[in-house]
Amino acid sequence: MDIKLIQFQSHGDERGSLVSLEDHKNIPFTIKRVYYLFNTKDDVRRGFHAHKKLKQLAVVLKGSCRFLLDDGKEKIDILLDNPSQGLYIESFLWREMYDFSEDCVLLVLADSFYDESDYIRDYQDFIEIVNHDS
Ligand code: TYD
Repeated sequence: MDIKLIQFQSHGDERGSLVSLEDHKNIPFTIKRVYYLFNTKDDVRRGFHAHKKLKQLAVVLKGSCRFLLDDGKEKIDILLDNPSQGLYIESFLWREMYDFSEDCVLLVLADSFYDESDYIRDYQDFIEIVNHDS
């Protein structure tokens, strides 16, 4: 499985750093929804789902957290701790987020509105769906 980590250009100078995210320039889809996680707990794991259609891109704006990505064949664990990097998460990838630092702010850009019917929340269902398609 390829991890798609996008390196954003950081416009830094003595005043600080600035990263700009733009549809189809450094973000590989049209951004329809933005949400963010904060006040997370270091011992709480979350996510535990895949999406049928949704594509997302995760950026840790502050602090750090780990992502487990699983395509049904392979699992990859990645540390996000750099606000100049975005993790592209395509559909049919099981994800779990954990090891949140106390100050973590995790921004997620999505290509669709929130839609519960797009979620696969049962891991066995996910495994059956991805193995059936391959
Ligand atoms: P949940 O899917 O449990 O979050 P995670 O995948 O990070 O563990 O979402 C938490 C709650 O927020 C749940 O009640 C659904 C709601 N929610 C929205 O209303 N809109 C959204 O865009 C998202 C991502 C979640």
